[in-house]
Amino acid sequence: MAVKMAVIPVAGHGTRLLPLTKSIPKELLPLGGKPVLQHVVEELQAAGLRELTMVTSKSKDAIGRHFSRDTALEEQLRSAGKEKELESLSFAGADSVFHYAEQKHQKGLGHAVLCAREIVGDQPFMIALGDALMGDAMTGDECNGKISALHAENRASLCKRMIRVFEHSDADAVISFQQVSLEKVNRYGIARLLPGYVDGDDAFDLAGLVEKPTVEAAPSQYAVAARYLCKPAIFEYLARTPPGHGGEIQLTDALQSLIDDGGKVLGVPLRNAEKRYDVGNFESYYAAFIELALADPEYGESSRQLMGKLLRDNDKES
Ligand code: G1P
Repeated sequence: MAVKMAVIPVAGHGTRLLPLTKSIPKELLPLGGKPVLQHVVEELQAAGLRELTMVTSKSKDAIGRHFSRDTALEEQLRSAGKEKELESLSFAGADSVFHYAEQKHQKGLGHAVLCAREIVGDQPFMIALGDALMGDAMTGDECNGKISALHAENRASLCKRMIRVFEHSDADAVISFQQVSLEKVNRYGIARLLPGYVDGDDAFDLAGLVEKPTVEAAPSQYAVAARYLCKPAIFEYLARTPPGHGGEIQLTDALQSLIDDGGKVLGVPLRNAEKRYDVGNFESYYAAFIELALADPEYGESSRQLMGKLLRDNDKES
């Protein structure tokens, strides 16, 4: 069955980004000229996913407004002859269907995904964390000093590869992974690999998954990287998963139960030029913002010059 549906959990409080996220959902923070979530949506659309289910909460109604058409504003721009601005709003009318599911209580990522069960129904679906952009981020000589991360087509490469692996295997789930340094394993879901994986292969078989292990307990340095593709059977597992790490219902634990029952779960590693732009904390948000601002087709060049000057001035002072 072709993969058409994506579930995007966006109900979290964004506490690590306070006070910035007091009234602005972290998924609507700007990355270059667009909110984070618009980049994520464009990545998914470019991968062919046109049914998009946001799992949101009451306090985040601005998310629904961003992805709905505002005909009054469009009319105003049209009559003022502001074609460019009008064009910048065309994403809201793009040929996708947006669904909204409410997560009433913050009980974790697994619970958020479970909230989309009725809308997803009986079809495979991608889970895309709404605070992370994925994809091809070639910089420097490889692409003439231009950063390609702004282009959804480039950023869709990972999701497309996951879909291909899913369609050409009998996998129950396919998960994306990036390698992280040992001191960071306690921030992620970490893979236990079955033997046989050769570096460079498109996918590896998973023997298990552990959510945010200690350095000593980490079975590898492959960290779950914000994209999962699952058959609908995962809902059964989520429904009976008790609270785990941090007292939350973890998607990782449901996937582990699926593996324990003989389910086939594959890992798709990020390729060299691919990376994950995270917006979960200030350090990674700043890094993502800078990288995307520098890639802006209109203001990237002047931003690069400014940054160069600031860095040179800074060097002189120190
Ligand atoms: C979640 C998942 C974790 C995964 C991470 C990044 O954690 O629970 O397994 O590695 O996203 O994709 P969070 O960042 O929400 O704490």
